[in-house]
Amino acid sequence: MSGLIKPHGGTLVNRVAQPDAVDALKKEAEGLTRIDLSPKQSCDVEMIGIGAFSPLTGFMGQADFDSVIENMTLTDGNIWPIPITLATDEGKAKEGERVALYAPNGVLQAIMTVEEIYPHDRAKEATIFFNKPEDDDGQHPGAEAVKKEGPVCLAGPIEVVTVCVDPDGPEAFLDHRLTPAQTRAEFEKRGWKTVSAFQTRNPIHRAHEYLCKCAQEITDGLLIHPLVGETKPGDIPADVRMRCYQKLIAEYFVDERTVLSVMPAAMRYAGPREAILHALVRKNYGVTHFIVGRDHAGVGSYYGTYDAQNIFDTLDEDNLEIEPLKFEHAAYSKKAQGMVSGKTFPKIEGDQIFLSGTKVRELLKKGERPPAEFTRPEVADILIEWATSTN
Ligand code: ADX
Repeated sequence: MSGLIKPHGGTLVNRVAQPDAVDALKKEAEGLTRIDLSPKQSCDVEMIGIGAFSPLTGFMGQADFDSVIENMTLTDGNIWPIPITLATDEGKAKEGERVALYAPNGVLQAIMTVEEIYPHDRAKEATIFFNKPEDDDGQHPGAEAVKKEGPVCLAGPIEVVTVCVDPDGPEAFLDHRLTPAQTRAEFEKRGWKTVSAFQTRNPIHRAHEYLCKCAQEITDGLLIHPLVGETKPGDIPADVRMRCYQKLIAEYFVDERTVLSVMPAAMRYAGPREAILHALVRKNYGVTHFIVGRDHAGVGSYYGTYDAQNIFDTLDEDNLEIEPLKFEHAAYSKKAQGMVSGKTFPKIEGDQIFLSGTKVRELLKKGERPPAEFTRPEVADILIEWATSTN
């Protein structure tokens, strides 16, 4: 991985047990305390195991928890914006004990050495989702999820026994589930030194595509890197999105310049802080430039349109290393007959084609394509098939 950007903290973590150690770990797990993971925690186990959360080797202890919330750094000084915690019920485990972590579908996912147990300050953790405490209206999906978590956190390193816990499930995408090491190897094979990454939890509409194409003009290659871990109800399922990405890439992208791979993380909807996490994770995957558009990782109206861009200006660039590619709100302009943003074309009343998520859904449910200036017809047809068959 010599020519590529270094992982966050300098070393790519690998906490996946070697194949010859797996049987012994499974045997050991039979005699250990069982901890049942939430979907988010299960995603976190995979992210830690494969090194996507480097330099983390396990779930965070209290000192890191506090430092992350207060300073957006780990205690070792590396930037880190969001606590990665294993919250559970009281009295489940003792310090020094090894425990077995089970995925929501009952599969043994990892074994953890519990180095520390500490009270889970859920109110404190929930503050990361808001600019001001008054913004907490009890409706934020990320904050509400944290508030419902267990009252204690277990901290310590993990050894992952099963990386993808549901390999036959609709959202496994084994052909596209590249680890950071595999992704780096792919970039090396292609001779890419600079790579931009596009994070998404949506189908790729024309505005998204525009961001990707602009990034492709300035870096050797593009990683389209959809998040396929836990998302909130109402978000489009990952397998439907994946069909859209594949079709779009086949029809509208240059294969030699594009890699499609999935990121098995859970979505937290933490806006600016999550944008930083998304960038650091992509650095671990070997990415040098990270696309941050309007209201990245936002939900509702908790964040300003460009908060997730501005937060990067407050960070230590030498530690961040990955460069944010900041994009203004983009849309199709009828007058310009192409995609524009406030940076590239004057605002003219009624000129831009914009549809709300609700409007798009309405059209899809009726079996109607959104305008081609908003969504490519090939993508629209996949979404119509899904919307009309399930809703
Ligand atoms: S996110 O939760 O992953 O941020 P989404 O999949 O909608 O949600 O967005 C992916 C990326 O595209 C984010 O960087 C977001 O800021 C950006 N983005 C989405 N729509 C637009 C738009 N119309 N103009 C500019 N950037 C956009």
